[in-house]
Order: sequence, then C-alpha cells, then structure tokens
Amino acid sequence: MNVRDRLVVALDVPSAEEALVLVERLAGLAGMFKVGSQLFTASGPDLVRGLVARGEKVFLDLKYHDIPNTVAGAVSAACRLGVSLVDVHALGGKAMMEAAVGAMPAMGTRLLAITVLTSHDAAGLDELGVAGEVTDTVRRLARLAHAAEVDGVVASPQEVPIVRDACGKDFLIVTPGIRPAGARTGDQARSATPAAALKAGADLLVVGRPIIEAPDPAAAARAILREMEGAA
Ligand code: C5P
Repeated sequence: MNVRDRLVVALDVPSAEEALVLVERLAGLAGMFKVGSQLFTASGPDLVRGLVARGEKVFLDLKYHDIPNTVAGAVSAACRLGVSLVDVHALGGKAMMEAAVGAMPAMGTRLLAITVLTSHDAAGLDELGVAGEVTDTVRRLARLAHAAEVDGVVASPQEVPIVRDACGKDFLIVTPGIRPAGARTGDQARSATPAAALKAGADLLVVGRPIIEAPDPAAAARAILREMEGAA
C-alpha cells in the first residue's frame, strides 16, 4: 500500500467551509479524511456525502457508545452515507460491538473499536475505576473487539505490538496520537512519530493538528509522508 493511502487527516475544524479548504489544499496527499464529532455536529451528513461524492474516502469518527440497538442503528446510518470507516467504543461491551457488526453491510465500510483514548494515561483511567496498566486494558479491549468480529481497533502507536500479538496480522490497526519529531504533543499522552508508528506495524495513521494547524498544511503532510516512506 502506498504511504499516502495510509495517511488519514483529521478534519478537526468548526465548519464545512474550513474543512473543504483543507481538503482542497491536501488533494492527493491523504488517503482518507476523518470527520469527527466537532465537524459532524456543525455540518452533519451533507458534508460527509459531499466528500464521498467528490471521491474522498471518509472515516466517520463518532465513537458510538450506547445500548446495542441504538448503536446498530447509528452504524447502519453511517454506512448508508458511504463512509469507509466507522467506529464504536470497545468499552460499550461485546454485545454492543456484536450489534454493530450485525448492522454492517457485506462490503464497503469497515468497523473499528476504540480501545483506550490516546489522551488517557494510567492516572486518568484509575480515576475512572479502571485499575492497572493501560497496556493491559488495551489488550483486553482489543481481544474483546476481535472476538466480536470487529475489523480492527483504534489504539495508540505505542500499543500496536500488543494488539498485533493479541489479534493477528489481518486485524486493522489505526493509530492517532502521531507527532512528528519535535512537534507539540498537546493533549495526546501516548504519542509516537509517524516512522515509529509504521515500524511498530500500524496500518493507518491519523494526523490532525500537526497538519491542519501548520502554516502550510500541504507542506506538513508532505514532510510526514517523507517520514513514512523512510519507515514503510
Ligand atoms: O490533532 P491530533 O493529531 O491529536 O488528532 C487526533 C485525532 O484522532 C482527533 O480527531 C481525535 O479525536 C482522534 N482520536 C484520538 N484517540 C483515539 C481515537 C481518535 O486522538 N483513541
């Protein structure tokens, strides 16, 4: 797979107008664009349909976490928008993930489960009553997602080897928390460079702020692609 196909740019901006400017500027530099809760809440399904209609692949990152019946309905609606990836929280449980899998069409869209948000660290999880090492929680949730027949997980680049080991080579691993060497980590507690994430075995890298907040987003994307090429 070409490294461009493995770069997912997070369109974490407040409006469809800003998102479309970024998509134009990044034409040909990203294999997929991620629409998260900020942009979707502001601009809704029309923006997603518009991106799909212009030939872009979309990861609809709304991280569903609700009762199984509601999540199945949401996943089904997401698939009808023509997105390539959609996700749920593994913490919603196995029955919820199985309901989501049951709502997927035979082909076209793949389902991911979030293990532990990359902004969490051990202290943050402990506060929530999830004791122990973050890596143990990630392993447990990845196994649960795999058992529910979800296509893959979203995990920190630092946990890719653990997930590979637990779920095998065909399980899709998508990693946010990517920071080029020297970049600010912001609220990402478990980050890694693009090269390190690929070397660890990640399939797709999600990059937001290091590209979308750069003075020249296309130049930032090209620099990341060069770093990825060196490691692929
Ligand atoms: O700006 P930055 O590169 O940190 O953006 C990362 C993106 O990945 C954000 O859109 C965030 O919502 C998303 N994400 C994450 N951690 C997860 C799942 C998704 O950071 N576990």
